[in-house]
Amino acid sequence: MSTHVMSLDALHKSLEDLVLEPGAPSIPIELVTSADDLSGIGEREARWVEARGWKPSQGSVLLVPGENGEIEKVLFGTGGDDWAQDAPMLIGALPDALPAGDYRFSSTLSNPDLAVLGFLKGCYRFTRYKSGGESDVRRLVLPEGADRTHILALAEGVYLGRNLINTPANDLGPADLEAVARDIANSSGATIKVTEGSSLLADNFPMIHAVGRASDRSPRLIDLRWGAESAPRVTVVGKGICFDTGGLNLKPGNAMSLMKKDMGGAAAALAFAVMVMRTKLPIRLRVLIPAADNSVAGNAFRPGDVLQSRNGMTVEIGNTDAEGRLVLADALSLADEEAPDYLVTFATLTGAARVALGPDLPPFYSTDEAFAEGMLKSSHAVGDPVWRMPFWAPYDKLLKSNIADVNHISEGPFAGSVTAALFLKRFVEHAKRYAHLDIYGWVPRQQPGRPRGGEPHAARALYEYLRGELGA
Ligand code: BES
Ligand code: MN
Ligand code: ZN
Repeated sequence: MSTHVMSLDALHKSLEDLVLEPGAPSIPIELVTSADDLSGIGEREARWVEARGWKPSQGSVLLVPGENGEIEKVLFGTGGDDWAQDAPMLIGALPDALPAGDYRFSSTLSNPDLAVLGFLKGCYRFTRYKSGGESDVRRLVLPEGADRTHILALAEGVYLGRNLINTPANDLGPADLEAVARDIANSSGATIKVTEGSSLLADNFPMIHAVGRASDRSPRLIDLRWGAESAPRVTVVGKGICFDTGGLNLKPGNAMSLMKKDMGGAAAALAFAVMVMRTKLPIRLRVLIPAADNSVAGNAFRPGDVLQSRNGMTVEIGNTDAEGRLVLADALSLADEEAPDYLVTFATLTGAARVALGPDLPPFYSTDEAFAEGMLKSSHAVGDPVWRMPFWAPYDKLLKSNIADVNHISEGPFAGSVTAALFLKRFVEHAKRYAHLDIYGWVPRQQPGRPRGGEPHAARALYEYLRGELGA
């Protein structure tokens, strides 16, 4: 099966090319925290700094010319704490400020891995649909103490996730998500099983089928497994709605325009999988992706319908635009059957999440205190922040249905992200820990290390947490 998404192999090679071995000829980048740091620079350089009126404020860049007009060095301001919560990704602002060329850090780095990763994250461009190709590359010498494999694995995951989200829905349907998952499986010795179309009914995934059946691109459940049987079992479930029209509860145009990103959860889950497999994190990984289009057609599911779910619960449909929780519910039931140690959902689930915390800070729900605490800490340390929200049990009654076991939405306008999380939680009974991430999957305004466009939010956060918890 071929797809429009760059193969993992090609992606890996292109990233390998961006990281140069120590000693390669390169332009030094000096990190400058305060004006005091400038006391050691040469006289000519000091005059240039003075003439430009340059101050080492956070994220500011100064190119310093040499005798012959070449760039002799780069000064990069890291001072102040006005961006403190954003600081881990600050280095990601560099590539946009630098001309194409080869660079190295000449200063000591407190976290070399994160610095290189930030740089690589800032180098990302989505050029798949631009005629004329790309020649404009910035490369970086691997600094002392940096772990090349680790950095490249994380960058590869992020780039893959971004490519998936950025690829428009006409080139990224459920079959393409499957092709990409197969590519990932093949490159890492994972096994993969896909249940497609009417087989979803035969194998008891009725809600994935109901949501996806109105599209001529058939829905499917992708099930990927990797790692030693004996290792801690981590299952991630990613919402893979390739395009969300809202279904019969059609979205208005402005709300629909970005809905190619509604497979952002799947992108984050696959990004996480690449990080885990490339670094051989000692876990037993399972990735479940319900992949479907939420489309409009005569056979579309309707508001007021009552669906049977995999675990037997009957679900009244309040609004066909709340499709994500339906496909996730069937996948969660399957995941829960083997009682994993960690069960985590990634999903672009609600507009309410963005209203509550904005596009950059995904709500994180957890049934386990230690997991929550560790995850928050890790997420902030690596500049992939999440914020805790509650599985607030009293709101569970908002999901009451008069004719079925549960309604999948609450009637009122309140706590939309919380009630969605509570709906999902109903399908988890046996997992040791359950967590849910209501991600936005998109960067609307460019930030350091985060170019505008798709972003597999929280994938690095979860990876970092598990690495600390279970890693070598
Ligand atoms: N994919 C959307 C949620 C979404 C919208 C995420 C915009 C990010 C940006 C989801 O399927 C949806 O439409 N949710 C509805 C639920 C509502 C009908 C209860 C929403 O949030 O409006
Ligand atoms: Mn929707
Ligand atoms: Zn959706």
